[in-house]
Amino acid sequence: MQETLKYIGENKLRFVDELFELLRIPSISADPAYKNDVLKCAELVSSYLKTAGADQVEICETDGYPIVYGEKMISPDLPTVLVYGHYDVQPADPLELWRRPPFEPYIEKTDLHPDGAIFARGSADDKGQFFMHLKAFEAMMQTNSVPCNVKFIIEGEEEIGSVSLGKWVNENKEKLSCDCILISDTHIYSNEQPTVTTGLRGLSYVEVEVEGPNRDLHSGLYGGAVPNPIHVLSRMIAKLIDDDGRILIDGFYDNVDVVSDEERADMNKLKDNPDEFKRSIGLSGVEGEKGYTTLERTSIRPTLDCNGIWGGYTGEGAKTVIPSKASAKISMRLVPYQTPEEITEKFTTYFEKIAPDTVKVKVTPHHGGMPYVLPTDTKEFLAAKTAMETAFGKEVLPYRGGGSIPITAMFEQVLGAKSVLMGFGLDSDAIHSPNEHYGLFNFYKGIESIPLFFENYVK
Ligand code: BES
Ligand code: MN
Ligand code: MN
Repeated sequence: MQETLKYIGENKLRFVDELFELLRIPSISADPAYKNDVLKCAELVSSYLKTAGADQVEICETDGYPIVYGEKMISPDLPTVLVYGHYDVQPADPLELWRRPPFEPYIEKTDLHPDGAIFARGSADDKGQFFMHLKAFEAMMQTNSVPCNVKFIIEGEEEIGSVSLGKWVNENKEKLSCDCILISDTHIYSNEQPTVTTGLRGLSYVEVEVEGPNRDLHSGLYGGAVPNPIHVLSRMIAKLIDDDGRILIDGFYDNVDVVSDEERADMNKLKDNPDEFKRSIGLSGVEGEKGYTTLERTSIRPTLDCNGIWGGYTGEGAKTVIPSKASAKISMRLVPYQTPEEITEKFTTYFEKIAPDTVKVKVTPHHGGMPYVLPTDTKEFLAAKTAMETAFGKEVLPYRGGGSIPITAMFEQVLGAKSVLMGFGLDSDAIHSPNEHYGLFNFYKGIESIPLFFENYVK
């Protein structure tokens, strides 16, 4: 191990340069205009995987963007760890809020990253994180210390719901057979208090449309006498959550797992720092479901958020009009044992129920995903905890993340293996936002933790 860590120390500046090459490619999966860049990114990932020492490296075609595969089989008697990551990124807009262009990576110090952070779209989500695995693997290869079989799948559609990967995993069960899945695509609580992510929320995402009159109307001639779809939609949205932060959809909480007082006490050991939380996002106060802490509201409790709302005239100046239609996009984060199908159905029933009969409503479901939990008494959790404790020199606690990686639940179902979420970002790294960044400290701690994970897992 000493030799592997030494190799990492001696090569870490080069690792950053190589990561910059990946970050320069705008591999935005959501926008077809970037198709060639996404494909180019898959090429670069595969060439990096080859140089790191993986065998059977392939760019596997799918109906969507390709999946990069590679492996190192040491012995059939040893366990197999499957490493998962994604090379696609979120769109970079609004561009004007970036201090420098999103695909021209640079390093700058911040309060939370005194050693510097890499700024670029995808630096933390997920290029900077999956790249740690390529470099840790290279270090193990170069020091003859790969302790078990390793497989890699790096996909290009995570940010748009992993549709092709879902299908591909089902068709390639044998190829992907493994004992556990190792993923770095989540966050730690802070650099002072490292954590292993033991849970992710699921997701149900819907778009709603309210239609009133059959055309846009003059607001002077018709105003006051007809249902205005924007008003109707606003009233309906107001009926989704009450003043105590409870979601009012019938049966919404039916299948919510009640987390024991013991586990709640444990998770609240992570010192919730409300002032820093508010400061970091420029708020004077927080809100949420009554009876729960901020930490609980963002992890063990389901939530509902309006993500976008539109309708009527939004251009320059004034136009007096009652629009024919108004729409919104709404996401719901789910916890065990809610399912996206169940919640989308309950949402639809409720939304239709609260609609006045003067309008027509339409609910269109988008992609969803199941929640995921990794118990703390598993070999996977303990190997990650011990690895990170060695790398950080600090006690590591379990922590449930609020975001979603729907493929984790599917891996468990199809491959029968647990995912361990050993991610190293910080919530303040601004993933999906302008000026996304990833701390150099975090990048290096991640690369060091990975060989330690392998060592502990195989032991
Ligand atoms: N890496 C994130 C998820 C994440 C980040 C989980 C930080 C926990 C901590 C992932 O790329 C992501 O953005 N997932 C989406 C869901 C997907 C279906 C689009 C999300 O959580 O919104
Ligand atoms: Mn991600
Ligand atoms: Mn993401």
